[in-house]
Amino acid sequence: MVGKICGTGSYVPPHVMDNDDLARIVDTNDEWIRERTGIGKRHIAEDETTSYMAGQAALRAVSQSGIDPEEIDMILVATSSSETVFPCAACEVQRIIGAVHAVGYDLNAACTGFVLAFNTAQAYISAGFCKTVMVIGADSMSNLLDWTDRGTCILFGDGAGAVILKAAEGEPVYMAAHSDGKKGPALTQLSRHRKDWENEQNKESYLHMDGQGVFKFAVRKVPEIIEEVLEEAEMNLEDIDYFVLHQANKRIIEAAAKRLKVPIDKFPMNLEEYANTSAATVPILLDEMARGNMLCEGQKIMLAGFGAGLTWAACLFEW
Ligand code: ACO
Repeated sequence: MVGKICGTGSYVPPHVMDNDDLARIVDTNDEWIRERTGIGKRHIAEDETTSYMAGQAALRAVSQSGIDPEEIDMILVATSSSETVFPCAACEVQRIIGAVHAVGYDLNAACTGFVLAFNTAQAYISAGFCKTVMVIGADSMSNLLDWTDRGTCILFGDGAGAVILKAAEGEPVYMAAHSDGKKGPALTQLSRHRKDWENEQNKESYLHMDGQGVFKFAVRKVPEIIEEVLEEAEMNLEDIDYFVLHQANKRIIEAAAKRLKVPIDKFPMNLEEYANTSAATVPILLDEMARGNMLCEGQKIMLAGFGAGLTWAACLFEW
């Protein structure tokens, strides 16, 4: 058995901050941000929490799939920015959607989180432990940022995306995943405690990033892991209909496409609208592709995520 996607959903908060809005807060401008990242705006949570956004994305996926929430036996939420350490966001999603028979837990692998959660769900399904799994990526990156640091605050946005996987006969799913803990310092976010929130000066509790280090890592490792999965599947790059990559930076995606010698139109992007929503980028993009009628049965989709850890993961499946 494999997990086939039977529904997708996404949610972004209505409040939009464009590059000109950012230029009023830090020393930056629309031209620099677009040229270096491809980002035009981002949606920023006001009162919406991570688990609220995850719940809204999940409700939309349930409604699109037409399944009864009571059929769902597991909810996985990939997040590194839940408003509570516990209970986990997945249990709040269970409450919101009324998935009374589901077990839920969160998974933290930063921007790689959704692809790893998707792989985890596939493993549960193929082992026969689950039949219907809700997989969500949700993050409120705006809560983690130092809004005086132009090197990081321009890159991120908030949002959530969800897919429902249902056990079915089908083509095998191929996956790969790696971590390199030695490169952990390239991208860090300390746990925040009450005293951090009360101390405006405590900059250590904000997201820190070696931008160029992460850039070089992503451009090398994403093509490598895609080739690794293709080799296992005994398929070629030409067999893939779409490469759905973590939406961190347009230049990273363009460089990966160039290295692989694959036309850029096989790499859909939406970061102009949403920026980097961390674990949410891949499922938000999948939802937009599904609702935009870009996807049809039998197409081969390659997901690839990368981020803090450092971690990177990929998954090849048939739509
Ligand atoms: N506006 C204007 N100028 C800026 C800004 C800004 N927002 N940020 C930096 N600059 C300046 C720098 O101060 C520097 O000025 P200097 O030459 O006078 O010293 C100049 O622009 C170049 O800075 P770099 O950091 O070298 O710029 P770079 O081309 O590397 O772009 C960026 C920076 C966009 C962060 C890039 O390194 C990047 O995208 N890295 C990938 C990291 C990433 O995507 N992280 C997302 C999170 S990780 C993840 O999702 C996996």
